Amino acid sequence: MIYQIYPRSFLDTTGDGVGDLAGITARLDYLRWLGVDAIWVSPFFRSPMADFGYDISDYCDVDPVFGTLADADRLIAGAHDAGIRVLLDWVPNHTSDQHPWFVDSRSSRRASKRDWYYWRDGRRSGTPNNWRAAFGGPAWTFDDATGQWYLHLFLPQQPDLNWGNREVVHAMHEVLRFWLDRDVDGFRIDVVHLIGKDPALPDQPAELGSVDRVGIHDDPRTHGLLREIRRLVDSYPGERVIVGEVNLHDTSAIRTYYGAGDELHMAFNFLPLATPWAAGDWRQVIRVVERDLGRDAWPTWVLSNHDSRRHRTRLGGSEAVSRAAAVLLLTLRGTPFLFQGEELGLEDAVVSPERRVDPGGRDGCRTPIPWTATPTHGWPTVDPWLPWPPHAEARNVQRERADPGAILHLYRRLLAVRRTSPALRHGDITLLDAPAAVLAFRRSTHEDERVVLVNFGETEVEVHVDGRWDIVVSSDSAVDRWDGALRAGEAVILQPGAA
Ligand code: NOJ
Repeated sequence: MIYQIYPRSFLDTTGDGVGDLAGITARLDYLRWLGVDAIWVSPFFRSPMADFGYDISDYCDVDPVFGTLADADRLIAGAHDAGIRVLLDWVPNHTSDQHPWFVDSRSSRRASKRDWYYWRDGRRSGTPNNWRAAFGGPAWTFDDATGQWYLHLFLPQQPDLNWGNREVVHAMHEVLRFWLDRDVDGFRIDVVHLIGKDPALPDQPAELGSVDRVGIHDDPRTHGLLREIRRLVDSYPGERVIVGEVNLHDTSAIRTYYGAGDELHMAFNFLPLATPWAAGDWRQVIRVVERDLGRDAWPTWVLSNHDSRRHRTRLGGSEAVSRAAAVLLLTLRGTPFLFQGEELGLEDAVVSPERRVDPGGRDGCRTPIPWTATPTHGWPTVDPWLPWPPHAEARNVQRERADPGAILHLYRRLLAVRRTSPALRHGDITLLDAPAAVLAFRRSTHEDERVVLVNFGETEVEVHVDGRWDIVVSSDSAVDRWDGALRAGEAVILQPGAA
């Protein structure tokens, strides 16, 4: 299981209201207690923070708001001591407009790094092509100084790097080496499907007119670039891993970014972010993932992250659904990703207009983690950069750790069960027949077997499973014996019973 840390909101140790690297290091014991295998830390590099760290002005330094390089070294070493691997968030598609590379590039048409970014003349109609940017508006900004347009698939402060230029490839490989030499275990790679581009930058079909480019960009050049990245990462000793954000809607297109085992180790599967809480929809998602990824591309599962509403909020806010979703996430075939605070059952905050800061409207899921029940919730300030999530006086680490019935303990139990079951860790998945409101599947290796049942309905339902079974975990803490019935909203893991 990979646990996503959004460092601004994990824990502040300096009193400026913004979380920092020392805050993560200080809570490694908590992550170890929970059962985290690896952390992915969202960007903490130098950044003007137009996109809260996804606009980087120096890939090889830590932004002062998060600490220093020495803090990063301490975090990496401390995590390794705790048996936790560390993935950094590498943002290859774009830099900040304040990055010295772009400052040089925009300085003159003859600048040495002019070609490190995409500069084009406009057409009579204005922009060089019809591409739209992810946060709205055209993907082009006109720069008066040199009378040309530059490409940005996100904010104007995030100009796209030209990976068609070998100097860019080399410079970005140096960034990977810088961090691999500091012993990180790999990278989550931001929107990696965007890095290959047809230098002609052709218009997208008119019928896609207002669709932003990010979800449809699928250029074959990216695969060669990915193979080079993979070779570089594989040249380091130990098991390093690259997980890519390939933001395409079609799983068979995402599959191609695993290459022949020589591109990404894993790509995010975001289907669950758009899947309603209904047995039929989940059956369909599992079928699609199994069919389109096949045997050689290892799946991933994500219910929440820093770009989407937390799933508790998205799925209606109930404790029962959050608990059943935890069972589902941690028993599917593939690597689950947890977004910090999901294990506390957190919901999105409603952020008042005057406190909103994100250009993409994603503040609600990014609110600070409450560590204690006190008014400052374990932070040095009562009023951090974003407001607290709802019910922080009850949904916090201190309270939930003290309550064996809390959802936090359910996550911890599920992670422990997963660790000791080969079937859950890497077994096959087979959908089983079940009543309409129930999702039922078997996970199995030749020596180990588990059955998972999830009742999406609001009434109790009988489920027949051949053989004798015991409950390993139920999402409903009152249940500890399998009697053939699932309570409303309940999810269980079964293991073969004593004969
Ligand atoms: C995807 C990241 O997850 C998101 O937070 C960011 O805004 C964009 N990529 C641009 O880097």
